[in-house]
Amino acid sequence: MRRVGGVEDMTRVAGMTERLDVEALLRRLTLEEKASLCIGSDFWHTAPVERLGIPAVMVADGPHGLRKESDEHGQGVLGGSVPATCFPTAAALASSWDVDLVEQVGAALGRETHAEDVAVLLGPGVNIKRSPLCGRNFEYFSEDPRLSGELATAFVRGVQSRGVGASLKHFAANNQETDRARVSADVDERTLREIYLPAFERVVREAQPWTVMCSYNRVNGTYASQHRWLLTEVLREEWGFEGLVVSDWGAVHDRAAAVAAGLDLEMPPQLGHSDRAVVDAVRSGTLDEAALDTVVRRVLTLVDRSLEADAAEPASPVDHEEHHALARQAARESAVLLKNDGLLPLDLYGGRRVAVVGEMARTPRYQGAGSSQVDPTRLDTALEALRAAVPEGTDLSFAAGYRLDAGDEAGLADEAAALATDADVVVVFLGLPAQAESEGFDRTDMHLPARQVDLLERVAAANADVAVVLANGSAVATAPWDRHARAVLETWLPGQAGGGAVADLLLGAANPCGRLAETIPLRLEDNTAFLNFPGDSGHVRYGEGVFVGYRGHDRLCQEVAYPFGHGLSYTTFAYGDARVDVTGSHEAGDLRLRVTCRVANTGDRAGKEVVQVYVGDVEASVARPPWELRGFVKLDLAPGESADAVVELDARDLSFWSPSVRDWVLEAGEFRIGVGASSRDLRSVVPVQVDAPRVAAPLGAMSSLQEWLADPAGTAALREVLGTTADGRLAGALGHAELQRVVGNFPMETLAGFPNVDLDHATLDDLVARVHRSAS
Ligand code: BGC
Repeated sequence: MRRVGGVEDMTRVAGMTERLDVEALLRRLTLEEKASLCIGSDFWHTAPVERLGIPAVMVADGPHGLRKESDEHGQGVLGGSVPATCFPTAAALASSWDVDLVEQVGAALGRETHAEDVAVLLGPGVNIKRSPLCGRNFEYFSEDPRLSGELATAFVRGVQSRGVGASLKHFAANNQETDRARVSADVDERTLREIYLPAFERVVREAQPWTVMCSYNRVNGTYASQHRWLLTEVLREEWGFEGLVVSDWGAVHDRAAAVAAGLDLEMPPQLGHSDRAVVDAVRSGTLDEAALDTVVRRVLTLVDRSLEADAAEPASPVDHEEHHALARQAARESAVLLKNDGLLPLDLYGGRRVAVVGEMARTPRYQGAGSSQVDPTRLDTALEALRAAVPEGTDLSFAAGYRLDAGDEAGLADEAAALATDADVVVVFLGLPAQAESEGFDRTDMHLPARQVDLLERVAAANADVAVVLANGSAVATAPWDRHARAVLETWLPGQAGGGAVADLLLGAANPCGRLAETIPLRLEDNTAFLNFPGDSGHVRYGEGVFVGYRGHDRLCQEVAYPFGHGLSYTTFAYGDARVDVTGSHEAGDLRLRVTCRVANTGDRAGKEVVQVYVGDVEASVARPPWELRGFVKLDLAPGESADAVVELDARDLSFWSPSVRDWVLEAGEFRIGVGASSRDLRSVVPVQVDAPRVAAPLGAMSSLQEWLADPAGTAALREVLGTTADGRLAGALGHAELQRVVGNFPMETLAGFPNVDLDHATLDDLVARVHRSAS
């Protein structure tokens, strides 16, 4: 049972574990009580109604660990919280490309949430990494909607398998922290549909999260909290969302307008303000009471759902050791080996001298700052984990090399360089200090602190056998320094067990199997959002459209430092030729492309390969990215073992969103299916011809002559009305090839007014009527 302290006694005597009869309660609630229910009662609870025995439920952050604030552990906004397992953040988890693992992490989070009497965990965040600078990139999965969507679906399934709800956030187009509470994300519909909404869509359709959290920002001028198209038409009517929409904390500006748009619960409540506004709006007739009933029904249903889950599975104590072990496994699977010329795994035996350099080996950066910050149950450091794991007789020494604050560090780099000189191998821990990235602000560049890069140069000058271990929540530029390292292991923000995971990977107890969920560009300026990030004057224009992340780099044929999907292993994999079996048809609605590729582990260690399937539309009538990820499989292969990676694609995977047709459109023609180890390492490309009925916006007077001629019904109508020449061409001026070239893109309405064109407005009306008749 979850309840607010104030109603505890009442709930005990009233036997509140009984389910709620939502419809009966709705009939008995007064207008004021309904208004009280559509806002919370404090920072973390829904409102109880004691008179009717309606308890409150608690929600808490999220996403990579439970942050349940507690008086015992500190008070207030971002105060202390109960200890909880700090799992790798989404940026790390996404790099695992492992849906089963993410589901297991979700289940562990759900268990901890349930054990703490919290009904909803506020995560996952599935906003797209539009720019590497976004301060919250550590909390988001990927620059790619398919990868984000599949992993977040697994996350939500896991969380919700433990009798608590998830909150899918932040809906929508919240891709920066700058001015996040007011900025208008100005995005065209195709870009929303193809890039910024599909992860939400997939999770809603496949996992039905208990709640969706709307974002702070405006979308094309309207606050997400008051955006009827987003919250009702798209989310509920198109995608079939059945749960509750909660506001981000402080995202509501006009509670009555938000009720009308489909925002069910305002958090935290503007007590005495929002409830009063709702009552007044209903009384004055500007808000339909039925709309209020709808949101209250959803709040009561959430409470009831939680009571039902409690009754089905009472909370049980958490095995924190087990969760720590899972956190370590997740951190291991999430690390990406960017570069390795054979230095890793470290070849250690008694007597070898290892220099560990960098304060982050001793003081790890393992999670991000802001609402997601967890008070971990324990914390491993890489330094201690390495000390414990190196073979006996290894001489392991440590030098901090730099300070994490901006303080004076004279002598630290000298000491590290001296240590490196005497060592057989050096492991340098670098990364972004906590103050460099956080919820609430965006970075202004992609660089590691200059003193860390200087340190690396000093160390590498003293000893060429350098491996770098990175810890950062969003991508850092590697091009300025990675030539100084023989190996680079990116761990992201790996959670409380990251230190142990690093030791496992460096020493070869585990084989790296993470793959980049975001591109590491050579320079920030190569990122396609660069010109329009973070906007100004209250607006950010998504001018790059669908060309986000690798979609943009590919389209511009740019070199990148490390491409999307990239990651090395201590073993090697060989790909056979991919096969694509096409069945069904688009017209019948059952088109399927089954992609199969045999992959073999050709090395002498067990390892995991992420087989990635990309689609390219060769003959598109709109500008499309050369390649788009449409599926992936993570294979676990013993040395010498091979297995088939199988991915099934459907029509949507080949389609684009057409703003004129206002639907997904699959155009007939040639597609390419690429299977490979990264977006830039396609090992097998298969051309496929796909048939599809022609879809176009209905012809009208404003359609151009070329559009009329491209449409069989349009051509037929023109020929019927204007006739044909002896050699079969369309008669009259409109049939002239030169006219078609020069003014063929003019609307027919304009052409109908031209003196030399044998088309008048009455004839055009007739033509339009004919094509409409033939279409119906
Ligand atoms: C964040 C949300 C978070 C909420 C509650 C907001 O500032 O944007 O992600 O769940 O606070 O802490």
